[in-house]
Amino acid sequence: GQQAARWCDGLTSVCFWRFHEPTLDIGWGYLFPQPGRNELIAIYTAPAGVGWIGNSLGGSMRANPLIIGWTDESSKPVISVRSTANYAPPQLLRTGPKVTILGSSGSNGTHQRIVYRCENCTTWTGGSGGINLNGNHVFGYASHAAIKPIDSSNPDSTLYQHTIASMHQLNTVNARSADYDADLAKLVNAAPLVP
Ligand code: HEM
Repeated sequence: GQQAARWCDGLTSVCFWRFHEPTLDIGWGYLFPQPGRNELIAIYTAPAGVGWIGNSLGGSMRANPLIIGWTDESSKPVISVRSTANYAPPQLLRTGPKVTILGSSGSNGTHQRIVYRCENCTTWTGGSGGINLNGNHVFGYASHAAIKPIDSSNPDSTLYQHTIASMHQLNTVNARSADYDADLAKLVNAAPLVP
């Protein structure tokens, strides 16, 4: 299937493993710590006009945590953690993943990016049950190419169904950083992306 490749962020110089969708120029990037922790860092990159960008940590849309990001009408980053048992609008997931938006997120009017730390994000009940931290893992990816969530500063906003949705592979061993905590600190301290 579609494979992620190493990609270094020009803004922060943190290197991720990223799946890039060339038609829409949207990227889904990941970075993992050394084994024994239950977290990861992720980055979504897209043209400013893209409506929302999301993943499924377990591949399928159903029964796995979905982490959806976008920038609101003031170019500020918003993250929404959701789940659904069916192919239907996902609802807020109030247990499990603890997501923190990191610096360098936002929109400059041309590009948007949502960078986040996801703690308690590598195992869950149902779906794929977790992320394979020792090799190839299948992530789901989805986006609405044009329409932002209706109430754009509200993480619980109604949003339109994706215009693209599929799955890609990523080798989580390749995506491990020996400097994970330094990379995290760099991203925490990065200035927001603003117009
Ligand atoms: C796939 C419906 C929102 C992630 C699908 C499919 C349907 C569907 C019918 C399978 C066929 C296809 O590929 O189009 C919906 C509806 C939504 C919605 C009605 C209402 C808003 C979302 C959101 C995410 C998401 C917010 C978040 C990331 C995915 C992914 C797939 C997918 C990753 C491909 C993997 C799979 O087939 O399970 N969706 N979706 N969806 N959806 Fe959604």
